[in-house]
Amino acid sequence: MNNNYFHYRIYGRSKGRNKKNFQYDKYRSIINNRAIKDLKVTDNNILDIGSGYGESTLYLAENYINSKIIACENFFDGNYKLINETEKKQLNNIYIHNGNVHQFLDKLTEGKYFSLIWILFPDPWPKKKHLKRRLINLFFFNKILKYLKKNAKIYIATDSKSYLKEILFLVFQLRNQLIWENQRKLGWDYNNTSLVQTKYYKKAIKNGSNPFIIKLRTL
Ligand SMILES: C[S@@+](CC[C@H](N)C(=O)[O-])C[C@H]1O[C@@H](n2cnc3c(N)ncnc32)[C@H](O)[C@@H]1O
Repeated sequence: MNNNYFHYRIYGRSKGRNKKNFQYDKYRSIINNRAIKDLKVTDNNILDIGSGYGESTLYLAENYINSKIIACENFFDGNYKLINETEKKQLNNIYIHNGNVHQFLDKLTEGKYFSLIWILFPDPWPKKKHLKRRLINLFFFNKILKYLKKNAKIYIATDSKSYLKEILFLVFQLRNQLIWENQRKLGWDYNNTSLVQTKYYKKAIKNGSNPFIIKLRTL
């Protein structure tokens, strides 16, 4: 069995109640559009992984108007909401891959397409027996590094202390390729940033936990 079997499997929710009668053709300019396979290395494309209900993608689209923002999300209802908001706000730089980020990346031809990747509040899978389900691991980092430009940024937010530790250990292992830029307490407190307040950010605050943001740069 090859590696992809494990990485193409997602344990979270995928189908939503909105999927049944969805007319893909009507929204082809946004969702599963060919353009996301035809990215140009000369552009500063941005990848938003696990975009949930799309608050982060909208924020990126409004703040980086000259970039293509690719949202990769497996949960259809989240993507559906993002499509509606994209239309309402008349944004024309959002593209959605409805599915697994691994599948999206594996279909790209080799190239340094991205100048920024966001992964806000990846599923923490806190139980010991589920740790293997976590999205961010060495395999994942090595994969995204193939597509990131030099001096590109990776932002990762989490309120799970054990995930944070694991990610920082991975960054240490990859120290020849990545630098951790916000190593001071003031810098890693998500509440001190003006970043977008996503559904899972709000959930973390409601639960009394303290979200961290890790800002990395490729060397
Ligand atoms: C905890 S939610 C966070 C959503 C959003 N970023 C937020 O902050 O509200 C994590 C999301 O990542 C998505 N996800 C998990 N693994 C994924 C994968 N391999 N590819 C694409 N999306 C994935 C899940 O479907 C889920 O919606």
